[in-house]
Amino acid sequence: MAAARRQGCDGSVLLDSTANVTAEKDGPPNVSLHAFYVIDNAKAALEALCPGVVSCADILALAARDAVALSGGPSWVVPVGRRDGRVSLAAETSTLPGPRASFEQLKQAFHARGLSTKDLVVLSGGHTLGFAHCSSFQARIHPDKAQQQDPSLSPSFAASLRRACPANNTARAAGSGLDATSAAFDNTYYRMLQGGRGLLASDEALLTHPKTRAWVALYAASQEAFFRAFAKSMLRMGELNGGDEVRANCRRVNQ
Ligand code: HEM
Repeated sequence: MAAARRQGCDGSVLLDSTANVTAEKDGPPNVSLHAFYVIDNAKAALEALCPGVVSCADILALAARDAVALSGGPSWVVPVGRRDGRVSLAAETSTLPGPRASFEQLKQAFHARGLSTKDLVVLSGGHTLGFAHCSSFQARIHPDKAQQQDPSLSPSFAASLRRACPANNTARAAGSGLDATSAAFDNTYYRMLQGGRGLLASDEALLTHPKTRAWVALYAASQEAFFRAFAKSMLRMGELNGGDEVRANCRRVNQ
């Protein structure tokens, strides 16, 4: 989840910081975003064929769909015609929910963007892919003296995370896959959540409410139901737009 403005999917996360403005991609929650060159390459190929037609926001939405499908997940038809935004502010990333967000905070963050509580459960399933750095779950496995270890974590899972991320860890790249099959788009994320092996506190928070717990159980039991729901929620999230132009270069607004 990278975009912070109400504008939604307007490619603002692709803009580079300038001498005067620190952009969204350099905001604290986005420091682990990388591989922007993939979008740059797609943009260069499209500009060579049809200049000024395909927006960076559309390229990003199509690339997200393809990454999911190529990892074994569902595919869907992405409506195109998004416009690229001209504003990208690191300060606005403070409105994104963090890895320690409570259920209420997550719900509010989704509702504020026109997304439902069901969308929250379904799109959190995006954590079937990828990696989290130790700092994103350190507090759960090394609580300070005032706190106990997070009781919702399975003790054996917590022990394996402590081996990857010891209290005195200095390796910046250390961390863990978000689920046990982090290169495959599948429903392992939900099955791990049910077993007390959800990595982030914000993942675990989906079990704290009876309604969301029931959705977790449904998707843990049926990968097909998860795939169908994921495609629908991605379409809903991708409808949020509001940009102004088709950028010539995804890293800079048009002059
Ligand atoms: C519900 C609110 C969400 C929170 C609090 C959240 C939080 C996080 C955090 C803390 C990380 C790890 C960052 C790091 O340590 O490097 C992460 C990674 C990731 N998130 Fe989320 N996220 C949320 C929603 C989403 C959504 C809606 C999607 C997509 C549908 C998504 C897809 C991903 C992916 C693919 C990664 C792995 C990135 C990588 O491997 O570099 N997340 N998320």
